Amino acid sequence: MTTAYTKLSNEELDQAISKLEAQVSEFKAQNLTLNMTRGNPCTAQTDLSRPMLDAITSGSDMVDDGVIVNNYGAPFGLPSARKMAAEYLDVDPEHVIVVGSSSLNLMYDLVANAWAHGIAGNKPWSLQGNVKFLCPSPGYDRHFKVTASFGIENIPIAMGPDGPDMAQVKELVEGDPAVKGIWCVPKYSNPTGVVYSDEVVRTFAALKPAAPDFRIFWDNAYNVHTFRGEGAALLNIFDALTDAGVTDRVYEFGSTSKITFPGSGMGFVAASTADMAEIQKAFSVMRVSPEKISQLAHVKFLKNMDGIKAHMKKHAEIVRPHFDLVEQKLSEGLTALGCATWSHPDGGYFVSFDGPDNSAAAIVELCGEMGVKLTPAGSTWPYGKDPHDSNIRIAPTFPSIEDLGKALDVFVVAVKLVTARLERDSRA
Ligand SMILES: Cc1ncc(COP(=O)(O)O)c(C=O)c1O
Repeated sequence: MTTAYTKLSNEELDQAISKLEAQVSEFKAQNLTLNMTRGNPCTAQTDLSRPMLDAITSGSDMVDDGVIVNNYGAPFGLPSARKMAAEYLDVDPEHVIVVGSSSLNLMYDLVANAWAHGIAGNKPWSLQGNVKFLCPSPGYDRHFKVTASFGIENIPIAMGPDGPDMAQVKELVEGDPAVKGIWCVPKYSNPTGVVYSDEVVRTFAALKPAAPDFRIFWDNAYNVHTFRGEGAALLNIFDALTDAGVTDRVYEFGSTSKITFPGSGMGFVAASTADMAEIQKAFSVMRVSPEKISQLAHVKFLKNMDGIKAHMKKHAEIVRPHFDLVEQKLSEGLTALGCATWSHPDGGYFVSFDGPDNSAAAIVELCGEMGVKLTPAGSTWPYGKDPHDSNIRIAPTFPSIEDLGKALDVFVVAVKLVTARLERDSRA
């Protein structure tokens, strides 16, 4: 990679390095403790949902469309909650179940179910020898950990500006019966912010998998999480499946984690009629009934998709300045150097940053020494192994604007110093 440092003489380069090392020492002397590791909403965001805590009182009616809320029953979620989740995913409520507070948990349960019991009458994955999952990368580390935890082989797939490399996906899915699934975050992907194009969605729908028990894990976690503009349009995967004459292919997930309170909301999953029957059978063994009081509170508070969108506009006002600051600091600090690229998302929770090859681990380590904690380098790839050691996930929502600005100043210095040192090493 040609950077501004490439053009410097050896002497000039050494001077630049010394200057940057002095800046590092200054930051170290400040004893900073800043954290940009996970994509958590900040307190101002979670405060937006505090009124939900008043939505239910001891005098509240504990009946929802004939279902008693504060007792066992409605194993697949309150009718009103299923309706709201169905609106979120743009599917029929019959095809959605709302259960638990974490969509990741539902994804785990469905991998576990396929592993232990099989899908659609096929042998359990655990008895099928080598089982593989496709992992568009950079992607969501926790997805990859779910499949890795079962010993499923995670295979990285290149991510482009419109979604995963579909030629690669098609070849593997259609050519290898060991490929049982793929992790997808189709809108404002974690961490790239990519929104899958219509063509990508249609290509997914038209896949002819070699494995009869292949499923797409379509994690629509950021469907309403736009912070700039009106929001990107994502083609409904179930509509695309219908157009392609395909059923029983997709598990679609969502949750209110980054709408209300992370970890204390509603997780939901949608699937075809046959897949849903299988999921319901599996989930009926796992629990008597879901936690419905939180579901009732969510419906009372958010009401419907219009209510969710209005609520998300308030989130957008809070998070937009954080993303603007990332853009400002990175472009001011690094554009002229030509040593890095980064995403410019309109929604979601992350900025995906790429420095020179062999830089990410060193940048993260150096930031750590200066008191700024970043997501470990490599974590956006299966097994934590970024083949280029270049990608870093920046999570700008949680820190205050002041802390974020400081953390980004530290980050920029670290990127510069690591890049300059790489240049010097390349000359040795
Ligand atoms: C893509 C994606 N899916 C799921 C989750 C977790 O969602 P939940 O809290 O519903 O398990 C996250 C959290 O960061 C995420 O980024």
